[in-house]
Amino acid sequence: MNAVLQPRTRRPIRELPGELISQIAAGEVIERPASVVRELVDNALDAGAREIVVRLVGGGIRSVVVEDDGHGIPAGELALALRRHATSKIASLAELEGVATMGFRGEALAAIAAVAELAISSRSADAPHATRLDARSGELAPAARAVGTSVEVRELFFSTPARRKFLKTESTELAHGVEAVRRHALARPDVGFAIWHDGRLVQHWRPCSGTQRVLDVLGAGFVEESRPVALDIGVLRIEGRAGLPAAAKARADHQYVYVNGRHVRDKLIAHGVRAAYEDVLHGARQPAYLLQLEIAAERVDVNVHPAKVEVRFRDAREVHQAVRRAVEAALAASASSTMAVVGLRDPFAQAPTTSGADTLALAAGNAVAASADRADFWSGSPWRQQPIALRAREPAPPWHAGIAQASEGEVARDARADEEDAGAPDFPLGHAVAQIAGAFILAENAHGLIVVDMHAAHERVVYERLKAAGDAAALEAQPLLIPATFAATAQEMATAEACAGELQALGLDVTPLGATTLAVRSQPAALASADVVALARSVLGELARYDGSAAIERARHQLLASMACHGAVRANRRLQLDEMNALLRDMERTERADQCNHGRPTWRQITRQELDALFWRGR
Ligand SMILES: Nc1ncnc2c1ncn2[C@@H]1O[C@H](COP(=O)(O)OP(=O)(O)OP(=O)(O)O)[C@@H](O)[C@H]1O
Ligand SMILES: [Mg+2]
Repeated sequence: MNAVLQPRTRRPIRELPGELISQIAAGEVIERPASVVRELVDNALDAGAREIVVRLVGGGIRSVVVEDDGHGIPAGELALALRRHATSKIASLAELEGVATMGFRGEALAAIAAVAELAISSRSADAPHATRLDARSGELAPAARAVGTSVEVRELFFSTPARRKFLKTESTELAHGVEAVRRHALARPDVGFAIWHDGRLVQHWRPCSGTQRVLDVLGAGFVEESRPVALDIGVLRIEGRAGLPAAAKARADHQYVYVNGRHVRDKLIAHGVRAAYEDVLHGARQPAYLLQLEIAAERVDVNVHPAKVEVRFRDAREVHQAVRRAVEAALAASASSTMAVVGLRDPFAQAPTTSGADTLALAAGNAVAASADRADFWSGSPWRQQPIALRAREPAPPWHAGIAQASEGEVARDARADEEDAGAPDFPLGHAVAQIAGAFILAENAHGLIVVDMHAAHERVVYERLKAAGDAAALEAQPLLIPATFAATAQEMATAEACAGELQALGLDVTPLGATTLAVRSQPAALASADVVALARSVLGELARYDGSAAIERARHQLLASMACHGAVRANRRLQLDEMNALLRDMERTERADQCNHGRPTWRQITRQELDALFWRGR
């Protein structure tokens, strides 16, 4: 029989011995060698270090040594530094509430000393030499080192073998240790970091600019496949980079969030980021991102988690919304701005955009929105109404050529000549030359060949247009003949009452029918066949948890996305050249046109150089 299930005889209440208290407390702070690295580097940064050296042996299990050139600790205070609840960083509740240092609990060194062998050598600016303190023996001795501090930690969990068993292999622990330093390095480009393992230098990041540090630590790949994030709403500033949806991975690598320089894993921020990607990245794929939030210290509480990896914001909605907006804006750049990034002239900077063209584009958007319930958006396609050069002449003859014909280049030249005659600018996505495999449009631009996935691209264009049209007015409600009822939680009841207006704006009429039952009396007309109870519950859940307008927008966008997918041009539909060109121009104009609603790219550039290389030209 399991001993744990046996009723136990009562024991008298006793105070725990001090050492056991420390070991219990240490359990919350020190989980593995990487936690030691994190705490010691925190301390070095708080001491104003400019160079920090981390030396690991055996993945950090055998030893972790952190050396810094900070202001050091006077010999007389060394013993105090190892005591629990002894700190130089705060002295009052007011200081705790406005804390700007990484440390504040006076806990880390005591926790480490409780579960490992620890020695600390330090020299302050006015001391003639350094002093070394051995935590186990309490012995103080003169030592040799420059101003700064070295902390040596050996045999982690030597006295708690059960915990030591939870450690992974040396290489896994090393990877965690390096990751701990990487997190600091991204926040502090002004500080140099070196990591040694078993006597070999494994990383060295010299002091540099923030941009350079991101490049050094996360690599050129991350920088190329991400866009800058920048938002300033006064009380809150957000900077960083958001990875392109097309570069998202199955694993959540490279997701870094900082609040006032402190690396955190915050659910609220992660949700805000996720909401921003939702529109462009479906499913479980994980985008890479690096976000640095700067917020007044009194608007955030860092004293909520034993390892300080979670924080609490005074105004959670404000932060959630700002994060979402900042990342959305970063991802919203259209094809033409992407081209600007790679150094192409942006034709729209000079091309006169007449108000007539704008009106047409807007009218086209409304036309599509109005025909949303029709199966075939194509028949009312706004492309045909685009004010493109071709419309000034006879329409181009239908042309359904395969790749063999296109290679003769005649049609390409013709199409080009047509537009040049009309004084058309050199478009970023070029001029259509052919459609192949019933699915792709080939176009030529100044850099070479463009290949467009026509369904994905059109879906995006239609979706963004629906969104623009839909944002202006409420989604149409369709009353249900028989209201759908469901047993609601207290939370759902409260939300339905508090957010009746928001629900109406989505076409949802959800009203109480008794104390614990809600009735759905209308649903969005565009989604007549949806599971209305599931829809209502998910919208209620969103409204309760997050910023109301964000929840509405998300629900609306989901509706529009499924409408756009039905409305976008199907594969195997033959397009005429003017239709292809109109789609290219639409893509250039459309926000987020570079990826479809599912995060796949909508177009690719194959450069002239790549084409040359394919045929070994110029070798
Ligand atoms: N590398 C260092 N350089 C200078 N002083 C240090 C260093 N490491 C520790 N100290 C001093 O020792 C004290 C105790 O450090 P410890 O890490 O235990 O607590 P803390 O940093 O104050 O708070 P926390 O437990 O949140 O880390 C610090 O307040 C600081 O005064
Ligand atoms: Mg500390």
